[in-house]
Amino acid sequence: MKHQYLFELGGENTELGKIEAIELLSTEHYEPTITLDENAIIAIKVSKVIKSKVVRRLGMTKRVSKIFYKDKERNLENIVNEIPQIDIGQNTFAIRQISKKTMSEKDVATTLGRKIPNHNKTRLERPEVKILYYAGTETIISIWDQTLETYYKRCLKHHIKNRPFFSPIGIHPRIARSMINLANCSEGETMIDPFCGTGGMLIEARDMKINAIGIDIIRKMVNYSIGNLDHYGLKAKVVEGDIESSKEYQFKAVVTDPPYGLSTTTKGEGVSELMKRSMNLFNKTMKKGERIVMALSNPELVKNPNYDEIYRFQWYIHKSLTRNILVLEKN
Ligand SMILES: C[S@@+](CC[C@H](N)C(=O)[O-])C[C@H]1O[C@@H](n2cnc3c(N)ncnc32)[C@H](O)[C@@H]1O
Repeated sequence: MKHQYLFELGGENTELGKIEAIELLSTEHYEPTITLDENAIIAIKVSKVIKSKVVRRLGMTKRVSKIFYKDKERNLENIVNEIPQIDIGQNTFAIRQISKKTMSEKDVATTLGRKIPNHNKTRLERPEVKILYYAGTETIISIWDQTLETYYKRCLKHHIKNRPFFSPIGIHPRIARSMINLANCSEGETMIDPFCGTGGMLIEARDMKINAIGIDIIRKMVNYSIGNLDHYGLKAKVVEGDIESSKEYQFKAVVTDPPYGLSTTTKGEGVSELMKRSMNLFNKTMKKGERIVMALSNPELVKNPNYDEIYRFQWYIHKSLTRNILVLEKN
């Protein structure tokens, strides 16, 4: 039980959210193992306490809390008779039930409330600590505080409608963030987005202190990226040029949302040729085990014998557009 955490995933794409969490924790050497998997609710065992700055990287997890109790017992009264007091320092608190409501909120609060020391005050609005109760195939009691804040809500400030330089091609910040977290990069390592557009990937990477290089063939897009980064107080290397210029840089991963072929321009080159050319180019500079994470309508376009497909997630955008998020690893 020592280091187990409850992850409540956003409803947009729970598979992507789950793998984002596992991959990030593996990259940061937490040796994660899933101990409960109930769609948007997962429990993960790790080898040490998860640092706030790692939790903060998560784009697709709504909330992370530290597990205090987890077992098959279903009767909360019996559980409360068995568990020790819940020590939450001097903090204010609220007791909440997650997803499946098996008991009234009031009953959960009075039963579980017996385990909170008398000096702690209840505060329903903005409590410093939340005691969470989940009744699924197992019963979980977990504790959330501000040090476990994810970026699920906060990354909305990076949403295209909140950026000064706007283009409809911009990717949602939650997806951008999760894509970067699938690329195995830690703070201080470098990723490249060779089709950077208005800078969605660069913003999320820099916000997580990952070095970022952006390339775009259109001057206006380069200026948009720089302007958007600047708006959030962030800096990255952004250059005007064809993808070909990526070979001048050293990077650990490629994270990108290439042209769809419809509304974005490729200066006359077919998307299929462009993707083939990109894969051959990356292959020249990338090392075994390094990753490319790409959002793509047609995954066939990036089939390449030098890369294994590790994951594929589908992302429905609208009736005629589904994007696939591919994670490829150099073999
Ligand atoms: C789908 S957009 C990227 C959107 C980006 N993720 C964002 O948040 O704005 C693709 C970008 O690729 C650029 N592009 C097209 N062909 C290119 C090439 N050969 N080399 C570099 N960039 C190219 C386009 O100008 C466009 O800005």
